[in-house]
Amino acid sequence: MGGYLIAPSLLAADFSRLGEQVAAVEKDADLLHLDVMDGHFVPNISFGPPVIASLRPVTSLTFDCHLMTTNPDQLLPALAEAGADVVTLHIEAMPDPSEAAKSAADLGLRFGLVLSPPTPFAAVAPFMELCSMVLVMSVQPGRGGQEFDSKVLSKVETARNWIESHELKADIQIDGGISPATIMAARDAGANVFVAGTAVFGAPNPSEAIRDLRRVIEGET
Ligand code: DX5
Ligand code: ZN
Repeated sequence: MGGYLIAPSLLAADFSRLGEQVAAVEKDADLLHLDVMDGHFVPNISFGPPVIASLRPVTSLTFDCHLMTTNPDQLLPALAEAGADVVTLHIEAMPDPSEAAKSAADLGLRFGLVLSPPTPFAAVAPFMELCSMVLVMSVQPGRGGQEFDSKVLSKVETARNWIESHELKADIQIDGGISPATIMAARDAGANVFVAGTAVFGAPNPSEAIRDLRRVIEGET
């Protein structure tokens, strides 16, 4: 996708007024990050294709769906139908994602892979050519509001070096604990897509919070 992109995570929004919350970030967000959790791959259950479908008509933002589910490939047709644009699947849930990548492409979805904090970059390296995005989790997946784990920064560097040395175009997304205090370290390690839940929807003005994050990474103060 190119450039620095900010992806507010709707998981931190007020679920009693999802439409309004999306409208609050529409102008400033680059992507809308949608965390799909199944109560099995992670303990929590969040939302899935029906909720995503109900949001599709109210926004033109790109829907970036982070699948924290067992058998994530089985959700792809319903997500495509619901209006998803990008799907990212955990490599821990699907150690050989080649078929899933093919299905995603057939469904017109951009495809990416996700690494939980303990999983090394080597787990996704063989599949990087299939990916338009690699997502490095900087917290344990499953809930928002956790502290950024700076131990994953070396994995972001590894991913950046791999992408450059193989002349690939994949984006590097980072997710978990991103705030004005942590986003610079993620950028400097090589991430270019920044997910922020609490830092955006926990702020009094979500749009202003996105602009603050952007000012930090673009080096203006
Ligand atoms: C965690 C989710 C994140 C979460 C981030 O499992 O993948 O997208 O919403 O929330 P914050 O920014 O609060 O860490
Ligand atoms: Zn996420």
